[in-house]
Amino acid sequence: MGFCDLVFLYSFLLLSRISCAAEVYNITSLQPLAQGRTLVSPGRIFELGFFSPNSSGNKYVGIWHKSILPRKVVWVANRDNPLAVTDALASLTITSNGNLQLVDEKRNAVWSTNISVSSNGSPAALLLDSGNFVIELKKGDEYLWKSFDYPGDTLLPGMRLGFNSKSGRRSFSTSWKSENDPSTGKFLIGLTTQNPAQVFIWINGSTPYWRSGPWDRAMFVGIPDMDDQYLSGFHLDVNVRQGTKYFWYNLFGKTLAYLYISSEGVHKYMYSKYGENWNLHWEAPKFPCDIYGTCGPFGVCEASKSSTTPICKCLKGFAPTSVDEWSRGNRTRGCERQTELFCESNTSRSVSWSRKEDGFWKMSSVKLPDYHEYSSLDDEDCRILCRDNCSCLAYAYVNSIGCLVWFKDLIDISEFSSGGADLFIRLANAELGVEQKKIKIKLIVSLASIFFIIMAAIVFGLYKLRANQKGTIKVTRNEITLTDTTDSSRESLQEYIRTQDPSELLIYEYDFDSILTATSNFSITNKLGEGGFGAVYRGKLEEGKEVAVKRLSSCSGQGVEEFKNEMLLISKLQHKNLVRLMGCCIKDDEKLIIYEFMQNKSLDTLLFDPMRRGVLNWEKRFNIIKGVARGLLYLHHDSYLKVIHRDLKASNILLDENMNPKISDFGLARIFQGTQNLANTQKIVGTLGYMSPEYAMRGIFSEKSDVYSFGVLVLEIIGGWKNTSFYDHETELCFLPYIWHIWNEGKGLYIVDEVLADSYSASEAMRCLHVGLLCVQDNAADRPTMPEVDFMLSSETDRPQPKQPLFTFQNSVSDRRPRYDNTCSANEATITLLEGR
Ligand SMILES: *[C@@H]1O[C@H](CO)[C@@H](O)[C@H](O)[C@H]1NC(C)=O
Ligand SMILES: *[C@@H]1O[C@H](CO)[C@@H](O)[C@H](O)[C@H]1NC(C)=O
Ligand SMILES: *[C@@H]1O[C@H](CO)[C@@H](O)[C@H](O)[C@H]1NC(C)=O
Ligand SMILES: *[C@@H]1O[C@H](CO)[C@@H](O)[C@H](O)[C@H]1NC(C)=O
Ligand SMILES: *[C@@H]1O[C@H](CO)[C@@H](O)[C@H](O)[C@H]1NC(C)=O
Ligand SMILES: *[C@@H]1O[C@H](CO)[C@@H](O)[C@H](O)[C@H]1NC(C)=O
Ligand SMILES: *[C@@H]1O[C@H](CO)[C@@H](O)[C@H](O)[C@H]1NC(C)=O
Repeated sequence: MGFCDLVFLYSFLLLSRISCAAEVYNITSLQPLAQGRTLVSPGRIFELGFFSPNSSGNKYVGIWHKSILPRKVVWVANRDNPLAVTDALASLTITSNGNLQLVDEKRNAVWSTNISVSSNGSPAALLLDSGNFVIELKKGDEYLWKSFDYPGDTLLPGMRLGFNSKSGRRSFSTSWKSENDPSTGKFLIGLTTQNPAQVFIWINGSTPYWRSGPWDRAMFVGIPDMDDQYLSGFHLDVNVRQGTKYFWYNLFGKTLAYLYISSEGVHKYMYSKYGENWNLHWEAPKFPCDIYGTCGPFGVCEASKSSTTPICKCLKGFAPTSVDEWSRGNRTRGCERQTELFCESNTSRSVSWSRKEDGFWKMSSVKLPDYHEYSSLDDEDCRILCRDNCSCLAYAYVNSIGCLVWFKDLIDISEFSSGGADLFIRLANAELGVEQKKIKIKLIVSLASIFFIIMAAIVFGLYKLRANQKGTIKVTRNEITLTDTTDSSRESLQEYIRTQDPSELLIYEYDFDSILTATSNFSITNKLGEGGFGAVYRGKLEEGKEVAVKRLSSCSGQGVEEFKNEMLLISKLQHKNLVRLMGCCIKDDEKLIIYEFMQNKSLDTLLFDPMRRGVLNWEKRFNIIKGVARGLLYLHHDSYLKVIHRDLKASNILLDENMNPKISDFGLARIFQGTQNLANTQKIVGTLGYMSPEYAMRGIFSEKSDVYSFGVLVLEIIGGWKNTSFYDHETELCFLPYIWHIWNEGKGLYIVDEVLADSYSASEAMRCLHVGLLCVQDNAADRPTMPEVDFMLSSETDRPQPKQPLFTFQNSVSDRRPRYDNTCSANEATITLLEGR
């Protein structure tokens, strides 16, 4: 080695040592990216550079999260054209024609973007904080090229999987060959062109390996544990006009995440909170039943989390095609039908006349089979459509999708313990008959239990007669679960009868006639208002006490006993910010609830009255906001009975003589519906303008839907505006978009009601405004919980930045789709939306 060589080597080593730490923020034709340097995103979240996987003789250019371990390379430029690991002179540059090019030591292009631009600018390549590697000509111009259009094995938030049916372009994610080899592997993940679409993993390009089940507008039906992930921002954007369909997801707060397909074909969702190391959130396929078609055509896999081998059986009315193969665990030929369908037989044959029409057999909680076809029919017509076409093998009606029918072999069905959908399978009458006998037996059993219930009711009635002498009935704590009228609740009722404890809470049962007198036969002059669950009347009892009487509309479908028990439970909810329940009254179909009467009526009568609005000074408004928050906090978290209000609005906030707020109508949602935390309900009760997007669109309600309504209420209180009748002509924005717009411009105090003039605390008002905007974010997961709200309201703390609310529920009852536009809704009465077309 000559002296010159030594000098060269030395200076090269020195240079590379120095440049080790070098970070750049762009790549231009003048400044290529050499080895030892990395390109970083402005927020230092992502980094792009040269890397060489373990024990491989190859070198690649890739992108990874800058500071989260273990390092995951989320995108590789030259995955199929590696550089030699010894190549120290390769660099990434921008060519004269504006393309990014990776050149090796011999200046040969190893990889290049393939764009044709007649550029007379000087393009630069940048790495964005989203992980998108882009080429731009000028700041603010559309990108000439972006890595997000070419996914590798990883889907970053904002990246899209899907297709454009007009251009024929589809984007897939492809696994690496092995953990240390980024070249194209054998697993492919993408979206199908079916309607509704499914996500599939294929092996070798075409053999199905896993599928998600159809998308139901918020989640995939075949992934039952996705329910809470719904709240974490998955989307499927469909643009019929452009013929595109894309699946993507977004993030919340300080969480980072990526979704990738491992070299073994496992689809994983990884996340990192606040820059901690990567954690696994979810993966599939995980269990034997997750593998596509494990049990063959017409086979069913019993999804059991513990077992490592799939438990296969045949659909009802089917048996293994080959018992021999089946018993050896070879399910490729699956099962076949045992009894010929009536519609398939030649009706001319004499034997057929005595046979009956085919029917449907219902399977609950299943992963629906592949090859569905969609129809826009309703529930009943869906059944008829399938019944009248002999090649229709099964149908399902999924609320948030509609009618699905199957004409091909039913494959990849799993039975879940919960979640999934109901599937109706066509069977010959003879196959159904067996089950009808079982139904008869069940009927006898249930008749017996009805008899028992009647007996129990008589016993309870006798007790009530005694109790009525005091005018009260009562119940001990935690005894009765209302919505399930099971024997255990009866038993506990009897248990209660035996153990009377006078210290327990009582509920007064009023005499119907006395209520009639008090309200002058529910005269119109005594009517205070009309709520979602019935009308409210003012009444004066004989002893002179004033009460409010709610006359429940009869559509609750609750029996008298259930109603009373529910009232007993609700009467135990006691908090200074809830209206006190004084008793109930039941006669025939009439169900009345008697509350304490509130001097200052409801908040809307003051807040939205231009003449009287001034009565509510800032101190009172702030007190009302905090009070409502506490009341809601109690309902959601601190009471022994979790209650989601579902119809929180200004007219349901009553004010006592000191302007203290009291939430009314709480617990009524319970009477009208079930008791789940997060439920998907057929019947949507609520008020336009206060309804959260997920509730209005899909009937999903949770604490977070109440939080949303609370947010709307807070913003109304600050501004003295009614959300449904607000429209700003200058900006052409409705209530929420307008407030966000003003707040975002840093002019939040413009929102504060002008009648308050300068007599308010700017910091408190800004705090309320900020909290209000956090509560009305489109995505339920972004919204704070009530404990967080309470905390943020009572002290100056760090608050996250609210996202812009895009959702506006248009005033259209028949159309349940969201409108991403600025149309205002004008109806402020509580409505009941019934699902379905
Ligand atoms: C590239 O980055 C340098 C600083 O690192 C900056 O001076 C230059 O303007 C940038 N060029 C472009 C095209 O953004
Ligand atoms: C690379 O090798 C190191 C040390 O052998 C090991 O700890 C690390 O997990 C390996 N990384 C990969 C991706 O295999
Ligand atoms: C680049 O694009 C041209 C046409 O746009 C195409 O013919 C060519 O095959 C592409 N080359 C590569 C390497 O993709
Ligand atoms: C995929 O292809 C490889 C190689 O061609 C083959 O060994 C493997 O069996 C194939 N797998 C499936 C499921 O078709
Ligand atoms: C299973 O059965 C099918 C057809 O009956 C046959 O082609 C296949 O080889 C069998 N597979 C195994 C693993 O035995
Ligand atoms: C029904 O009748 C057709 C001709 O009319 C015949 O080809 C077919 O085999 C018959 N099917 C059965 C199940 O008997
Ligand atoms: C039954 O449905 C199939 C598939 O949609 C269709 O091709 C066929 O024409 C239908 N048959 C009748 C009798 O409607």
